[in-house]
Amino acid sequence: MEVVIVPDAAAGGELIAEAMTALLRRKPDALLGVATGSTPLPVYEALAAKVSAGAVDVSRARIAQLDEYVGLPAEHPESYRSVLRRQVLEPLGLAAGAFMGPDGAASDVQGACEAYDKALAEAGGVDLQLLGIGTDGHIGFNEPCSSLASRTRIKTLTEQTRVDNARFFDGDIKQVPHHVITQGIGTILQARHLVLLATGEGKADAVAATVEGPVAAVCPASALQLHPHATVVVDEAAASELKLADYFRHTYANKPDWQGI
Ligand code: GLP
Repeated sequence: MEVVIVPDAAAGGELIAEAMTALLRRKPDALLGVATGSTPLPVYEALAAKVSAGAVDVSRARIAQLDEYVGLPAEHPESYRSVLRRQVLEPLGLAAGAFMGPDGAASDVQGACEAYDKALAEAGGVDLQLLGIGTDGHIGFNEPCSSLASRTRIKTLTEQTRVDNARFFDGDIKQVPHHVITQGIGTILQARHLVLLATGEGKADAVAATVEGPVAAVCPASALQLHPHATVVVDEAAASELKLADYFRHTYANKPDWQGI
């Protein structure tokens, strides 16, 4: 995997938005896999700025959701579908038809998971999947010890993740659902390019385990080591526990300009 250490979150957002722009120029109807949380916001802001400036045409782009709470109605402001409508679709000027995601309000949750996994494959697969990382190393909502071969399915959140996400629910952990639908690790690994963004000191241990630890289900993000094109973009704080930080700086600084991430 490639590790790129950037000075701050805004630089990370710009770098990844540039990669998305390059992809959309090559493939205007690319399927972009998007993540929620605070970390990806600089990416969405940078991409929206490029669209406003006329640097890229996203009118044929398609957007795929990574995970969703179970039991929240789609119109709930904190359902990930609503969050992505506000943070991605509307700023990019995309219609609801450009979006695909699992139905977190389905009565048959297992059926909804299988249908979403199938829909992703039928759509031609995700071209670039943007990922954040949980403090426990989760990607999507694949909590520690998720099977590295898992497909889209229902998961139970750890208490730590519910505590971390309570800030989106008025700080009230009772409002944070216990269950979620998430693309599985096996599903995520089928995207053509995985780009994980991590910022802040709170992610430093998870980043070190992801990049320099063994491939192990206890750190779900370590599965990126199995992917032929995985890029981990970290700010200095999130990189602070990396033993090979200087090597990563050196390789990126000496990369051919044309190569991109
Ligand atoms: C949630 C999401 C993940 C995200 C994580 C980290 O659990 N399901 O996709 O990576 O939060 O969020 P943040 O970027 O806000 O730290």
